[in-house]
Amino acid sequence: MKQVIKRIRRRILEAIYGYEALLAGRWASSAHRRLMWAQWFLGSNPEFFDHHIDLHYQWPDTRNSLWIERGVFGSLALKGGDLLELACGDGFNAKNFYSLRSRTVTACDFDPKALALARRKNATPNVSFVLADIRTAMPAGRFDNVVWDAAIEHFTPDEIAKIMASIKSRLTPEGILSGYTLVEKEDGSHHLHQHEYEFHDIEDLARFLRPHFKNVRVFETIFPDRHNLYFWASDGAVPFDAGWPRQLESRQVAS
Ligand SMILES: C[S@@+](CC[C@H](N)C(=O)[O-])C[C@H]1O[C@@H](n2cnc3c(N)ncnc32)[C@H](O)[C@@H]1O
Repeated sequence: MKQVIKRIRRRILEAIYGYEALLAGRWASSAHRRLMWAQWFLGSNPEFFDHHIDLHYQWPDTRNSLWIERGVFGSLALKGGDLLELACGDGFNAKNFYSLRSRTVTACDFDPKALALARRKNATPNVSFVLADIRTAMPAGRFDNVVWDAAIEHFTPDEIAKIMASIKSRLTPEGILSGYTLVEKEDGSHHLHQHEYEFHDIEDLARFLRPHFKNVRVFETIFPDRHNLYFWASDGAVPFDAGWPRQLESRQVAS
């Protein structure tokens, strides 16, 4: 008898909470659709994106998982130490991809509005959000990882070359730079007006990395609306190299 009551109780609660979750999901989705409209279609668009809009509205609505890739590919290169994220925007990736498996995350951006949003929505104990223009005042320190996601295209080729040198001087000897950018459109127009330089192809991006790093890997993914480039660069091993320590660990676990 006790078992039957338990089963009925579980079914009733599951039905109530399932319905509640369904309604909450729909409400969150429509609220984020309105938020996106207010942020992107009432005046000039911001230089950064609130990724909670991707999470709650755009991803389920479009089935486009592109926005997740940079966090996933960047995470493959994590070394578990101190991480510097350049041009962090809303801080979603600092919290949700990089903070759990890094000792500290210093996430910087030159836009006070991006940082205000990051602190409001993506604060977590080992992440510090710092105001800094990376052309002139990149945060000082020694970092095991530097992440430069969706921002390298916001700089001119000259600026990119100088910023690369600053990154290199902040990385530990086997530290890894990782990041994401996109390939230019065929008609030569830019995806966003804030973009200074969009890359022709894998080789065009690799030429900025090779002067500073012994190992450079650039790879691409192609979505219906965007051709993407991801990069890992280091003087040590990068993910999937023979000497990549995480690979050795997983081999040991498997044997
Ligand atoms: C498209 S957002 C990318 C944000 C985040 N990295 C991501 O993957 O979603 C580009 C960011 O670069 C920042 N940015 C542009 N120029 C910068 C500079 N000179 N110094 C620091 N941040 C800069 C912008 O404020 C913006 O937040």
